[in-house]
Amino acid sequence: MHKSKSDALVFFGATGDLAYKKIFPALQAMVKRGHLDVPVIGVAKAGWNLEQLRGRARDSVEKHGGIDAAAFDKLCSLLRYVDGDYNDPLTFQAIRQELGGAERPAHYLAIPPLLFETVVEQLAKSGSSQGARVIVEKPFGHDLSSAQELNRILHSVFPETEIFRIDHYLGKRPVNNVVIFRFANAFMEPFWNRNYIESVQITMAEDFGVQGRGAFYDQTGAIRDVVQNHLFQVLSNLAMEPPVRTDSETIRDEKVKVLKAIRPLDANNLVRGQFRGYRQEGGVRSDSKVETFAALRLEIDSWRWKEVPFYIRAGKNLPVTCTEVFARFRKPPTVLKESVVKHNHMRFRISPEMAIAIGATAMGPGEVLEGQHVEIMASRHPCPDEMDAYERVLGDAMAGDATLFARQDYVEEAWRIVDPALKADTPVYEYEQGSWGPGDVELRISPEGGWHNPITTGDESPSQSTVPC
Ligand code: BG6
Repeated sequence: MHKSKSDALVFFGATGDLAYKKIFPALQAMVKRGHLDVPVIGVAKAGWNLEQLRGRARDSVEKHGGIDAAAFDKLCSLLRYVDGDYNDPLTFQAIRQELGGAERPAHYLAIPPLLFETVVEQLAKSGSSQGARVIVEKPFGHDLSSAQELNRILHSVFPETEIFRIDHYLGKRPVNNVVIFRFANAFMEPFWNRNYIESVQITMAEDFGVQGRGAFYDQTGAIRDVVQNHLFQVLSNLAMEPPVRTDSETIRDEKVKVLKAIRPLDANNLVRGQFRGYRQEGGVRSDSKVETFAALRLEIDSWRWKEVPFYIRAGKNLPVTCTEVFARFRKPPTVLKESVVKHNHMRFRISPEMAIAIGATAMGPGEVLEGQHVEIMASRHPCPDEMDAYERVLGDAMAGDATLFARQDYVEEAWRIVDPALKADTPVYEYEQGSWGPGDVELRISPEGGWHNPITTGDESPSQSTVPC
């Protein structure tokens, strides 16, 4: 494995949606920070020229975060464009030519997985895969066997050490903070286990629908879109054992071990929902049974977590946009009136802002010896200069640091867990937009003490402190 920096970036799908929403803004930010100073070769089949691609890049950064004149000019000077069909060897000869003397290019496949095989083969034939890295986007396959097939295709040309599977949740600081907070604090370890934790909930709520991505979403659904990848990454960070070293493979080994300890999802432990009106969205089948909401219950059969249920819930068109972890502690034995002592909890908010909170019982204000539930919270909004998740993962991939990427065995374990339930064709229940999903969730997948629904305004407790940037 070479750790040297990539000396060119080729990105396939340069005229596409992902490039427009995420990649150009990330590239401008990388240039601004002084992290990108190599040729950036956009590839697509759009009949465009370089000026048109630059126009698209300008539009993209203006709409997503704003233009920085100096950084954008620099990015334009680095930008090249190759227009052509991915089946045509001439396209790849043109890429080879644009690469010039580059010896360690990074090829970013921001294209549908159906095209991977063609592109990877052509890269090999044209000599552009020599010494190169490949960066691919989630969803990585749509089930275990398709993921294995994609891995086979990539491995036919690239060694695993040079494959970077993007899950942008791994580029989010609050997701990584879960690991830091757990393992950099002495007080966490004694209670972060089955002896003290009763259950854990992870909720990813979005107050918007499919936003014009109906055709994609209707092939995907909530489990494939965010549970099997983003939320399993959060779960792994919550449940993993302390890594003995900080290198990428030691950390990724620990994460895989979490998934290995999870039995396949039983269809009885899953409730799927679809928001009312979804079938009228563009690109969605009128009889679609694809879920826009999923709630599930998993167990981790490990020494630390055996018999502690982990609940995961994700959905579109819910009341708020927020991703949050809520761990409920077992109730303490108490001399106070049973009814006033609540379960303690620990809350990790992943977005929109980062927060860590501990729910506890303290003495109430009155003269009677009564407990009062308080929450001690530290929160932090992203600093203006903070790296966006895409900037972080693209930079890391080009630097050859694999820590924040999903390894092959991890991806396959994740599919192993959800595959049987995905194939079980469970019913999909309709829910009202702006609700917390179908009523059946409360009946069938019901955490101890009920679901904790994140609120995003007036959420602050009096004991809050805000961490400086
Ligand atoms: C993407 C999903 O991977 O993540 C989207 O395809 C989802 O459906 C998005 O909305 C959420 O990411 P973020 O960073 O906005 O929380």
